[in-house]
Amino acid sequence: MKVSVRVPATSANLGPGFDCLGLALPIYNTITIEETVLPGTGIEINLMSEDEVIEEMGFDDIPRDENNIVYKAVEMLYNSIGQEPSELKINIQSQIPITRGLGSSAAVVVGGLLAANKLLGSPADETALLSIATEVEGHPDNVAPAILGGFVLASQEDDGSIIYRKLNWPEEWDITVCIPDFELSTNIARSVLPQNIPMQDAVFNAKHLAMLIQAVNTKDEKLMKAALQDKLHQPYREKLVPGMKEIMEAFRHEDGVLGCVLSGAGPSMLIISHKYDLDKIKSIVREIWEGQSIKVDVKTLKIEPKGAEILE
Ligand code: HSE
Repeated sequence: MKVSVRVPATSANLGPGFDCLGLALPIYNTITIEETVLPGTGIEINLMSEDEVIEEMGFDDIPRDENNIVYKAVEMLYNSIGQEPSELKINIQSQIPITRGLGSSAAVVVGGLLAANKLLGSPADETALLSIATEVEGHPDNVAPAILGGFVLASQEDDGSIIYRKLNWPEEWDITVCIPDFELSTNIARSVLPQNIPMQDAVFNAKHLAMLIQAVNTKDEKLMKAALQDKLHQPYREKLVPGMKEIMEAFRHEDGVLGCVLSGAGPSMLIISHKYDLDKIKSIVREIWEGQSIKVDVKTLKIEPKGAEILE
Protein backbone atom coordinates (compact mmCIF):
# COMPACT_ATOMS: atom_id res chain seq x y z
CA MET A 1 0.00 0.00 0.00
CA LYS A 2 1.15 3.50 -0.80
CA VAL A 3 0.01 6.93 0.49
CA SER A 4 1.02 10.41 -0.71
CA VAL A 5 0.57 13.60 1.28
CA ARG A 6 0.97 17.15 0.03
CA VAL A 7 2.17 19.65 2.64
CA PRO A 8 2.51 23.44 2.36
CA ALA A 9 5.48 25.64 3.19
CA THR A 10 5.23 27.73 6.33
CA SER A 11 6.54 31.02 7.57
CA ALA A 12 7.04 31.17 11.34
CA ASN A 13 7.24 34.06 13.78
CA LEU A 14 5.63 36.94 11.83
CA GLY A 15 7.82 39.42 13.73
CA PRO A 16 6.65 39.55 17.38
CA GLY A 17 5.17 36.01 17.36
CA PHE A 18 8.57 34.40 17.90
CA ASP A 19 8.25 30.63 18.35
CA CYS A 20 4.44 30.70 18.44
CA LEU A 21 2.91 32.10 15.21
CA GLY A 22 3.11 30.69 11.71
CA LEU A 23 1.23 30.77 8.43
CA ALA A 24 0.98 28.31 5.55
CA LEU A 25 1.99 29.25 2.01
CA PRO A 26 1.02 27.57 -1.29
CA ILE A 27 4.41 26.04 -2.12
CA TYR A 28 4.36 22.28 -1.55
CA ASN A 29 6.34 19.16 -0.75
CA THR A 30 4.79 15.79 -1.51
CA ILE A 31 5.79 12.80 0.59
CA THR A 32 4.91 9.28 -0.46
CA ILE A 33 5.32 6.27 1.79
CA GLU A 34 5.07 2.76 0.50
CA GLU A 35 5.17 -0.37 2.61
CA THR A 36 7.25 -2.78 0.61
CA VAL A 37 6.60 -6.46 0.79
CA LEU A 38 10.14 -7.75 0.47
CA PRO A 39 11.41 -8.52 3.96
CA GLY A 40 14.91 -7.34 4.78
CA THR A 41 14.91 -4.46 2.32
CA GLY A 42 15.05 -1.94 5.20
CA ILE A 43 14.23 1.64 4.39
CA GLU A 44 14.78 3.49 1.18
CA ILE A 45 14.58 7.28 1.07
CA ASN A 46 14.51 9.02 -2.30
CA LEU A 47 14.50 12.73 -3.04
CA MET A 48 12.56 13.32 -6.20
CA SER A 49 12.04 16.08 -8.69
CA GLU A 50 8.73 15.39 -10.42
CA ASP A 51 9.07 11.66 -11.07
CA GLU A 52 12.82 11.29 -11.13
CA VAL A 53 15.12 10.48 -8.26
CA ILE A 54 17.68 13.24 -7.78
CA GLU A 55 21.02 12.98 -6.12
CA GLU A 56 22.05 16.62 -6.22
CA MET A 57 20.41 20.00 -5.64
CA GLY A 58 21.93 20.58 -2.20
CA PHE A 59 20.33 17.54 -0.64
CA ASP A 60 23.66 15.80 -0.01
CA ASP A 61 23.56 16.46 3.73
CA ILE A 62 20.18 14.84 4.22
CA PRO A 63 20.51 11.36 5.75
CA ARG A 64 18.92 8.55 3.74
CA ASP A 65 18.79 6.04 6.59
CA GLU A 66 17.21 5.64 10.06
CA ASN A 67 18.64 9.07 10.98
CA ASN A 68 16.41 10.81 8.49
CA ILE A 69 13.86 13.00 10.35
CA VAL A 70 10.97 11.67 8.31
CA TYR A 71 11.89 8.13 9.26
CA LYS A 72 12.35 9.14 12.92
CA ALA A 73 8.86 10.67 13.01
CA VAL A 74 7.34 7.61 11.33
CA GLU A 75 9.16 5.30 13.74
CA MET A 76 7.85 7.29 16.71
CA LEU A 77 4.30 6.94 15.42
CA TYR A 78 4.66 3.17 14.97
CA ASN A 79 6.22 2.89 18.46
CA SER A 80 3.37 4.91 19.99
CA ILE A 81 1.01 2.08 19.06
CA GLY A 82 3.46 -0.64 20.05
CA GLN A 83 4.68 -1.49 16.55
CA GLU A 84 7.95 -1.30 14.64
CA PRO A 85 7.98 0.19 11.13
CA SER A 86 7.99 -2.40 8.40
CA GLU A 87 10.07 -2.11 5.26
CA LEU A 88 9.41 1.39 3.97
CA LYS A 89 10.08 3.32 0.82
CA ILE A 90 9.86 7.08 1.37
CA ASN A 91 9.81 9.44 -1.62
CA ILE A 92 10.17 13.16 -1.00
CA GLN A 93 9.26 15.50 -3.82
CA SER A 94 10.36 18.95 -2.80
CA GLN A 95 9.35 22.36 -4.11
CA ILE A 96 9.99 24.17 -0.85
CA PRO A 97 13.53 25.54 -0.90
CA ILE A 98 15.58 24.12 1.96
CA THR A 99 17.24 26.16 4.75
CA ARG A 100 15.50 29.38 3.68
CA GLY A 101 13.07 29.84 6.60
CA LEU A 102 10.09 28.30 4.80
CA GLY A 103 9.49 25.19 6.89
CA SER A 104 10.83 22.56 4.47
CA SER A 105 11.77 20.16 7.26
CA ALA A 106 8.42 20.61 9.04
CA ALA A 107 6.71 19.84 5.72
CA VAL A 108 8.54 16.55 5.20
CA VAL A 109 8.05 15.44 8.80
CA VAL A 110 4.33 16.25 8.69
CA GLY A 111 3.96 14.56 5.29
CA GLY A 112 5.73 11.39 6.47
CA LEU A 113 3.68 11.21 9.64
CA LEU A 114 0.32 11.73 7.96
CA ALA A 115 1.12 9.16 5.29
CA ALA A 116 2.25 6.60 7.87
CA ASN A 117 -0.82 7.31 10.01
CA LYS A 118 -3.06 6.61 7.03
CA LEU A 119 -1.16 3.38 6.29
CA LEU A 120 -1.74 2.31 9.89
CA GLY A 121 -5.49 2.98 9.76
CA SER A 122 -5.34 6.46 11.38
CA PRO A 123 -4.60 5.57 15.03
CA ALA A 124 -3.24 9.06 15.86
CA ASP A 125 -5.45 12.16 16.04
CA GLU A 126 -4.38 15.69 15.05
CA THR A 127 -3.03 16.55 18.50
CA ALA A 128 -0.95 13.36 18.70
CA LEU A 129 0.47 13.97 15.21
CA LEU A 130 1.32 17.55 16.12
CA SER A 131 3.13 16.39 19.28
CA ILE A 132 5.21 13.79 17.46
CA ALA A 133 6.06 16.20 14.63
CA THR A 134 7.10 18.86 17.14
CA GLU A 135 9.19 16.42 19.12
CA VAL A 136 11.11 15.46 15.99
CA GLU A 137 11.25 18.80 14.20
CA GLY A 138 11.32 21.17 17.16
CA HIS A 139 9.18 24.04 15.88
CA PRO A 140 5.42 23.97 16.51
CA ASP A 141 5.14 27.35 14.76
CA ASN A 142 6.05 25.56 11.50
CA VAL A 143 4.52 22.15 12.17
CA ALA A 144 1.04 23.39 13.19
CA PRO A 145 0.36 25.56 10.11
CA ALA A 146 1.81 22.80 7.90
CA ILE A 147 -0.86 20.44 9.27
CA LEU A 148 -3.76 22.88 9.61
CA GLY A 149 -3.10 25.50 6.93
CA GLY A 150 -3.94 29.18 7.45
CA PHE A 151 -2.63 31.31 10.27
CA VAL A 152 -1.92 29.42 13.47
CA LEU A 153 -0.93 30.10 17.06
CA ALA A 154 1.00 27.14 18.50
CA SER A 155 2.74 27.02 21.84
CA GLN A 156 4.81 24.20 23.24
CA GLU A 157 4.10 24.35 26.95
CA ASP A 158 6.66 23.55 29.67
CA ASP A 159 5.23 20.04 30.09
CA GLY A 160 5.76 19.41 26.36
CA SER A 161 2.09 19.61 25.39
CA ILE A 162 1.07 21.82 22.48
CA ILE A 163 -1.70 24.39 22.68
CA TYR A 164 -2.79 25.50 19.22
CA ARG A 165 -5.56 27.46 17.56
CA LYS A 166 -6.25 28.51 14.00
CA LEU A 167 -6.60 32.31 13.79
CA ASN A 168 -8.21 34.56 11.21
CA TRP A 169 -6.13 36.01 8.41
CA PRO A 170 -7.57 38.78 6.21
CA GLU A 171 -8.01 37.22 2.74
CA GLU A 172 -7.20 40.51 1.04
CA TRP A 173 -3.74 40.93 2.53
CA ASP A 174 -0.99 39.97 0.12
CA ILE A 175 2.03 38.05 1.30
CA THR A 176 5.18 38.54 -0.73
CA VAL A 177 7.92 36.01 -0.06
CA CYS A 178 11.45 36.99 -1.02
CA ILE A 179 13.78 33.99 -1.15
CA PRO A 180 17.47 34.81 -1.53
CA ASP A 181 19.86 32.32 -3.08
CA PHE A 182 21.83 31.62 0.09
CA GLU A 183 21.09 29.20 2.89
CA LEU A 184 20.90 29.77 6.64
CA SER A 185 20.48 26.83 8.97
CA THR A 186 18.03 27.20 11.82
CA ASN A 187 20.72 25.99 14.25
CA ILE A 188 23.01 28.83 13.28
CA ALA A 189 20.15 31.35 13.35
CA ARG A 190 19.26 30.18 16.88
CA SER A 191 22.85 30.14 18.07
CA VAL A 192 23.10 33.94 17.77
CA LEU A 193 20.13 34.52 20.09
CA PRO A 194 20.97 35.51 23.68
CA GLN A 195 20.02 33.31 26.66
CA ASN A 196 18.52 36.29 28.48
CA ILE A 197 16.92 39.47 27.22
CA PRO A 198 16.18 42.82 28.88
CA MET A 199 12.76 43.16 30.55
CA GLN A 200 11.84 46.07 28.27
CA ASP A 201 12.40 43.89 25.18
CA ALA A 202 10.14 41.14 26.57
CA VAL A 203 7.45 43.75 27.29
CA PHE A 204 7.92 45.23 23.80
CA ASN A 205 7.20 41.84 22.19
CA ALA A 206 4.25 41.08 24.48
CA LYS A 207 2.64 44.40 23.52
CA HIS A 208 3.24 43.95 19.80
CA LEU A 209 2.03 40.35 19.76
CA ALA A 210 -1.21 41.48 21.43
CA MET A 211 -1.57 44.20 18.77
CA LEU A 212 -0.96 41.68 15.99
CA ILE A 213 -3.69 39.31 17.20
CA GLN A 214 -6.22 42.15 17.44
CA ALA A 215 -5.10 43.57 14.06
CA VAL A 216 -5.69 40.31 12.15
CA ASN A 217 -9.00 39.74 13.92
CA THR A 218 -10.37 43.15 13.00
CA LYS A 219 -8.41 43.68 9.73
CA ASP A 220 -6.97 46.82 11.32
CA GLU A 221 -4.16 47.78 8.95
CA LYS A 222 -2.92 50.70 10.99
CA LEU A 223 -2.59 48.46 14.04
CA MET A 224 -0.91 45.73 11.97
CA LYS A 225 1.67 48.20 10.79
CA ALA A 226 2.44 49.11 14.41
CA ALA A 227 2.39 45.44 15.44
CA LEU A 228 4.93 43.91 13.05
CA GLN A 229 7.99 44.69 15.13
CA ASP A 230 10.21 42.45 17.18
CA LYS A 231 13.06 42.67 19.65
CA LEU A 232 13.55 39.00 20.52
CA HIS A 233 15.09 37.50 17.39
CA GLN A 234 15.24 39.74 14.32
CA PRO A 235 17.82 42.25 15.66
CA TYR A 236 20.20 39.38 16.51
CA ARG A 237 19.75 37.64 13.18
CA GLU A 238 20.36 40.76 11.15
CA LYS A 239 24.08 40.07 10.98
CA LEU A 240 23.43 36.69 9.33
CA VAL A 241 21.22 38.12 6.59
CA PRO A 242 22.95 40.74 4.44
CA GLY A 243 20.45 43.28 3.13
CA MET A 244 17.79 42.47 5.76
CA LYS A 245 18.07 45.79 7.56
CA GLU A 246 17.93 47.80 4.32
CA ILE A 247 14.90 45.85 3.06
CA MET A 248 13.01 46.46 6.33
CA GLU A 249 13.95 50.12 6.27
CA ALA A 250 12.88 50.52 2.63
CA PHE A 251 9.29 49.46 3.42
CA ARG A 252 8.90 51.07 6.85
CA HIS A 253 7.17 54.22 5.64
CA GLU A 254 5.39 52.92 2.53
CA ASP A 255 1.60 53.33 2.64
CA GLY A 256 -0.04 50.00 1.86
CA VAL A 257 2.86 47.96 3.24
CA LEU A 258 1.76 46.59 6.60
CA GLY A 259 5.13 45.20 7.52
CA CYS A 260 8.30 43.40 6.58
CA VAL A 261 9.62 40.52 8.70
CA LEU A 262 12.12 37.70 8.58
CA SER A 263 10.45 34.42 7.54
CA GLY A 264 11.09 31.90 10.32
CA ALA A 265 14.77 31.81 11.13
CA GLY A 266 15.56 33.41 7.74
CA PRO A 267 17.06 34.24 5.37
CA SER A 268 13.79 34.67 3.38
CA MET A 269 11.78 37.80 4.08
CA LEU A 270 8.04 38.32 4.11
CA ILE A 271 6.27 41.54 3.15
CA ILE A 272 2.61 41.93 4.08
CA SER A 273 0.71 44.50 2.02
CA HIS A 274 -2.71 45.58 0.88
CA LYS A 275 -3.45 47.34 -2.40
CA TYR A 276 0.22 48.09 -2.84
CA ASP A 277 2.08 47.90 -6.13
CA LEU A 278 3.52 44.37 -6.06
CA ASP A 279 5.98 45.12 -8.85
CA LYS A 280 7.37 47.88 -6.70
CA ILE A 281 8.00 45.39 -3.87
CA LYS A 282 9.83 43.17 -6.33
CA SER A 283 11.99 45.94 -7.68
CA ILE A 284 12.90 47.35 -4.24
CA VAL A 285 13.93 43.92 -2.92
CA ARG A 286 15.79 43.05 -6.13
CA GLU A 287 17.67 46.31 -6.12
CA ILE A 288 18.88 45.81 -2.55
CA TRP A 289 19.78 42.13 -2.79
CA GLU A 290 21.07 42.07 -6.35
CA GLY A 291 23.12 45.15 -5.47
CA GLN A 292 24.93 42.83 -3.03
CA SER A 293 25.23 40.10 -5.69
CA ILE A 294 22.46 38.04 -4.07
CA LYS A 295 19.93 36.56 -6.49
CA VAL A 296 16.36 36.54 -5.23
CA ASP A 297 13.11 34.83 -6.10
CA VAL A 298 10.09 37.03 -5.24
CA LYS A 299 6.57 35.54 -5.15
CA THR A 300 3.33 37.18 -4.06
CA LEU A 301 0.97 34.59 -2.61
CA LYS A 302 -2.28 34.21 -0.73
CA ILE A 303 -2.30 32.26 2.51
CA GLU A 304 -2.70 28.47 2.05
CA PRO A 305 -5.97 27.66 3.81
CA LYS A 306 -6.11 23.84 3.90
CA GLY A 307 -2.82 22.51 5.22
CA ALA A 308 -1.57 18.97 4.70
CA GLU A 309 -3.72 16.89 2.40
CA ILE A 310 -3.78 13.17 1.71
CA LEU A 311 -3.80 12.71 -2.07
CA GLU A 312 -6.12 10.03 -3.34
N1 HSE B 1 10.55 30.01 15.54
C1 HSE B 1 11.67 29.31 14.95
C2 HSE B 1 12.86 30.24 14.88
C3 HSE B 1 11.27 28.83 13.59
O1 HSE B 1 12.68 31.39 14.53
O2 HSE B 1 13.98 29.81 15.20
C4 HSE B 1 12.30 27.97 12.95
O3 HSE B 1 11.84 27.52 11.70
